[in-house]
Amino acid sequence: MSICCIRGAITVEENTRENILYNSKLLLNEIIKKNNININSINSVFFTATKDITKVYPAVAAREIGICEAGLMCVQEMFVEGSLEMCIRVLITANIDINQKDVKHVYMKNAKKLRPDLSDKKNICVAIDGPAGSGKSTIARIIAKELNFIYVDTGAMYRSVALYCINNNISTNDNKKIINILDNIDIKIDYINDIQNIFLNEENVTELIRNQIVADGASKVAAIKEVREKLVDIQRKIALNKDVIMDGRDIGTHVLPNAHVKIYLDASIDERTKRRCNELKENGIAFKEDEIKKEIVKRDNYDKNRKESPLKQAEDAIFIDTSSMKIEDVKNEIIKIIKRV
Ligand code: DC
Repeated sequence: MSICCIRGAITVEENTRENILYNSKLLLNEIIKKNNININSINSVFFTATKDITKVYPAVAAREIGICEAGLMCVQEMFVEGSLEMCIRVLITANIDINQKDVKHVYMKNAKKLRPDLSDKKNICVAIDGPAGSGKSTIARIIAKELNFIYVDTGAMYRSVALYCINNNISTNDNKKIINILDNIDIKIDYINDIQNIFLNEENVTELIRNQIVADGASKVAAIKEVREKLVDIQRKIALNKDVIMDGRDIGTHVLPNAHVKIYLDASIDERTKRRCNELKENGIAFKEDEIKKEIVKRDNYDKNRKESPLKQAEDAIFIDTSSMKIEDVKNEIIKIIKRV
């Protein structure tokens, strides 16, 4: 027997007494079960909780499951920007029959994000970044279907924020106002017949966000730090326990820095203009080719030169120039890379 320290963490869904106690017990019981701990051999249970948890001390759960002799303690965590919300962490010391190096730490629910190496299932994350028209979304959608991954189009989220601003007469240049109303914006993604649908405050806006005015607005709101923090949080939660292929501008550099595969797609400006014009032609929308080219260059500049998570290739991303490649060939090349992983 030796004294071992076992760590664990779990997130709660609601700041209510019931939910906090339910999750704290879930965590403690899982640690006890996984490490074959006799309750009477526990010496101390030390909890920390993020400051959004206020309704009850998680330590109460320890008493309720019969940990009576151990020293119990609970403190509020210091706030660290960008850290997980509604999270309870625990450190247990106990006399057990295993060595410290063999103890099983337990991370549950969204807290798995803190230790992806310990989560039960190793889901695959594929990050595809690149400028508008590089072929990201077309390719990502096809690959997701073929490999049965979830496809996440993060651009649609920035577009939805822009649409909210446009619908509510808020200039997409008015950063201060946008930050103030950010809490009024609820964005959800759902899959209908395997196709990503995006909901802005419960309204399905999947089609409404597909126009140039919204795209320009999206590029502007995407430069606001607070907007990015809100959307990146949603994106990371989606990728937590599913096989995902996510496309955007900062997926490999910021959203999923530990993605198993990172691809950076690009194509010449002329080819990207041609693709965009063909798309408009197919939808019966009138356009002037030189204006489309100007719009793409303008958006590229905006996305690449902003301060917050600008569009750039992650150091460990694989670069593919799709200018003279067929969709099928790009798809096959990326699938080959994913299968290798
Ligand atoms: O990919 P898209 O055209 O739908 O993206 C719209 C805008 O959103 C784009 O100009 C930049 C921004 N964006 C971003 O900043 N980060 C992402 N991960 C995705 C999109």
